[in-house]
Order: sequence, then C-alpha cells, then structure tokens
Amino acid sequence: MTDREVGIDALSVYIPHFYLDLKDMAQANGVDPDKYYVGLGGKHMAILPPDEDPVTMAAEAAKALVESWNIDKKSIGMVIVGTESSVDGAKPIASFVHGLLGLPTECRVFDAQHACYGATAGLTMALNWCATRDKKALIIATDVARYDVRSAGEPTQGAGAVAMVISSNPSLLKIRQDIDAAYSNHVFDFFRPLYRSTAVVDGKFSLECYLTALECTYERFKKQTGLNLSDLDFLLFHVPFPKMAYKAFARLYEIESKERSLPPLSDIFEDMTGCALWANREVGNIYSGSLYLALAGLLETPNINPATKKVGMFSYGSGCCAEFLLGEFKGDQTRWKGKTGLIGHLSKRVKISYEEYIKIREAYEGKIPLNTLSLGNGSYYKYCGIIEHKRIYDNSSSDAPPMST
Ligand code: CAA
Repeated sequence: MTDREVGIDALSVYIPHFYLDLKDMAQANGVDPDKYYVGLGGKHMAILPPDEDPVTMAAEAAKALVESWNIDKKSIGMVIVGTESSVDGAKPIASFVHGLLGLPTECRVFDAQHACYGATAGLTMALNWCATRDKKALIIATDVARYDVRSAGEPTQGAGAVAMVISSNPSLLKIRQDIDAAYSNHVFDFFRPLYRSTAVVDGKFSLECYLTALECTYERFKKQTGLNLSDLDFLLFHVPFPKMAYKAFARLYEIESKERSLPPLSDIFEDMTGCALWANREVGNIYSGSLYLALAGLLETPNINPATKKVGMFSYGSGCCAEFLLGEFKGDQTRWKGKTGLIGHLSKRVKISYEEYIKIREAYEGKIPLNTLSLGNGSYYKYCGIIEHKRIYDNSSSDAPPMST
C-alpha cells in the first residue's frame, strides 16, 4: 500500500443502437405497464442485435475511451473484463478486446467473473496494482442480461458496456483502497448453468440476498471509516432495476434514522441516488456495468456538479459477493462532462417493436440465421459468427492487426 491517489481516470459507455419500450412488452405480456414503469422503475430496455455481442460492446466502449480521453495505448499494462456473459470456456473476452484494439503485448489480460460483481473485482485489483506503478489498467464491464420470454425477470433485461481507465493521480474519481468492506455467501439466488443462455433466478430471494449483503458491507464500511450516510454526498448502487436502488437506499435510511435525524426519505433519496438513475431507466440491467452506468449517469446529469464530493458505491454480484466502495470526485467537471458517450448513444437510438425484439432473440438462439435481420446499427466492430470453432469479428476498418481466422 502507498499513499498515492488511485482511482478512475476515464470512463466511456457503449449502449446498443436499439431499444424496446417496456410498455410494449407489458402489452404483449398482458401486464399493466405501470408494473414495469412504476413497480420496477424501468422505462426502456437496450436490445443487442445479433451481429454484436459482449466482445464487440466491450471493444466499442474501450475504443471510445482511448479516443475521447486521449489515452496512450502503450500506457495500458493490464486489461480486465468483468462479465457474466462469457463467449468461450477458456479464452477471455479481454483477450479478444486486447486484439481488436491493438494493445501492447506487455500486458496482463484476463476476465473476472462473479455475476454483477466481476468489474468491481477487476477494479479493486487494478487500484492496488496502479498504486505501485505508473502504468494504467483498462477495466471493462460488458454484459447482456437475458431472461426467459414472459418470465418475471424479462422486463429487467438490458445490454451495454462500461470501460474505465484506472491509474494513479486519476482525473475523475479517487477511490480509497484501504477499505475492505466486502461480503460473500454461497447462495443460489441467480445463476446461469453452462447449458443455458438465460439466467435462472429466485427473484424474491435475490432481493433478500442483495439487501443482506448491503447491510453487512455498509456496517463494515462504517466501522472502518467512521463515516455514515450523512457524510456522503451521493450513494450509488448496483441497479438490476431502478426500484432496487430505492429499496436499497430505504434499507440504509431505516438503519441510519434510528441513530440520527435525517431529511425526508424521498428528498434525500433523490439528491443522493435518484438523480443518477435516468441512464439505468433507459438501458435496463447491464449486470457488471450497472453500478458504473449509474456513475456515468451522475457525471452526465445536467445541473449537478459532483466535483470534490464524496460518493459511496455498492456493488453486488449474485451468488454472491458484494463490496462497498468510497470515492471522491476530482475538482474539474469539464474533464468528464459530455465525454462518457452516454448522451450520444442514447440520442441516436432507434426504437424497435416487440415483434422485432422476439426476432432478434430467435436469431441469437440460432432459430433463424444471423443475416435474416439487416439492422444496420452503425457499430464499429461486428460479430460475424464461428468458423472452425473460432469466433470471428470484423475489425477491417480498425488500426489493429486483423484477427486471425
Ligand atoms: N402499478 C404499479 N406497481 C405495480 C403494479 C402496478 N400495476 N403491479 C405490481 N406493481 C409493483 C409491485 O407492488 C412490486 O413493488 P414492490 O417490490 O415495491 O412491492 C413491483 O411492482 C414488482 O412486482 P412483483 O413483486 O409482483 O414482481 P415480480 O414477481 O413479477 O418480479 C422481480 C419482480 C423479482 C424483481 C423480477 O423482476 C426478477 O426476478 N428480476 C430479476 C432478478 C433481480 O433483478 N434481482 C435483484 C437482486 S439480484 C441482483 O441484483 C443481481 C442481478 O443483477 C440480477
């Protein structure tokens, strides 16, 4: 451990080009739209077309990160992808991304998996690694959330990637590396057996596991730092669906209000958490990237300047593993405003119908050929299918060497 400041130096988001309105899904499922809009707090859901996958999303986010934030690729000495949407049993997504971006060979490259906690595992490892060297680490959360059609989890799907550069003297968010507010418990609240493409979930139990993990990590955080809710300016959570962040906040409020007087719940929730959730409401659950999507939302919220403010961040991965982090924003918001890519992606999106959503799922499941759907999404990297057991990506316009076939 050193006294060097470490944290997030740059952040970039990739959101697929298509979205479904939850109202259309509610109609198809014969459900009152307010169950999804109000009960779960969602609005739209990002839909991944069949010529994209978790690799292309990760590569898109990382490419934008390098270009918009002017990152020297040679400074990157570690790439960790946090994902629960692996595309191969042995070759990590990080390896594909390393190739697609043309990153240096002097580099550690691997994936970190523990459901939605994977990216946080990568981030905390990178913080320690960066504390003792001048190199940077690239951490990418990339996932596509898929549940069975007409299951309770279906309205909480989504897709997207968040890429972050971790370094010493970060320009965006300093993160305390001396706090160990972690929690683990072997539970089957949500998991995806290798033979399935959709998650198996015990919905109500998963909520209980999430809240237990929150209480435990928060208690550890308080003990180790001497801080509590009132000392924080913002509090961000893993967001499987936006209402979950409210439930989580309300649980901590209940605990804290026994010890001190607090402003009304609805006001303090909006100021500390609710203000950041608009992006999650647009995109849905992106599993390992959901917490960091809320962070991007906060950075890009008009009329909010988080510079020099403190933020608590709760990361939860089913199974389960969780951690409570403490960050402090740096002093110059011009460094990040308008640079996460979030607003650009959301403003260019195209709405699809429920029928198109079902067709995309069928193409993904191999029930109809990939090329049946010509969606023209304008993304840079394309997934082209599997030839001789190898996943093939089209990066013909990239400056990286061509991927071997
Ligand atoms: N108008 C307004 N609200 C309505 C409504 C209506 N017409 N009808 C229902 N509601 C409300 C309900 O009252 C309920 O609100 P509260 O939770 O505040 O009581 C809410 O809508 C949801 O209704 P149900 O409880 O009946 O919902 P459900 O049984 O259909 O499923 C769910 C909800 C369990 C969250 C399900 O969507 C699910 O399984 N999701 C996936 C699992 C998940 O996200 N778990 C979160 C913790 S685990 C985790 O965080 C990891 C991860 O990313 C998956």
